[in-house]
Amino acid sequence: MLSATMEKALNAQVNAELYSSYFYLAMSSYCESVSLSGCAGWMRAQAQEELYHGMKIYDYINERGGRAIMAAIDQPPTDWETVHSVFDDVLAHEIKVTSLINDLMNLAQDERDHATSSFLRWFIDEQVEEEASVGAVVDKLKMIGKDGNGLFVLDRELEQRVFTPPVKE
Ligand code: FEO
Repeated sequence: MLSATMEKALNAQVNAELYSSYFYLAMSSYCESVSLSGCAGWMRAQAQEELYHGMKIYDYINERGGRAIMAAIDQPPTDWETVHSVFDDVLAHEIKVTSLINDLMNLAQDERDHATSSFLRWFIDEQVEEEASVGAVVDKLKMIGKDGNGLFVLDRELEQRVFTPPVKE
């Protein structure tokens, strides 16, 4: 059984993951509007992944005798100056999510809630991968600068990404 504090904190994370999904969907739409369909597809896959994260926590809350609550989702930004600023925002957002997951892990450990600590380990590892993958795109965008050809090639590369839900552990 989850403590009331842990249940509330996990519910806040469900909301944060669903917001992330909404945020990346807004970015996908922006990328589409500037004809970067590969970047748009990458963002759409990212949005699907965030929905998966939110549902993973939703299922866990219910499995542990709590109740997942669907709170209001904030309105994400709708416009960016460049695709580079979009990816900078993704990296900054993922760094923020990592700190939220770390705070959850600290709470689980303080409460000696070993089941939740074990559950959160997947998210700790996932954040390492998330920051690394978007960090690599930001690095490439820095190299590309204002080179349209470089951006064209990167857009083609990002088009390859598809979201495949991990096999349930
Ligand atoms: Fe669910 Fe991108 O962290």
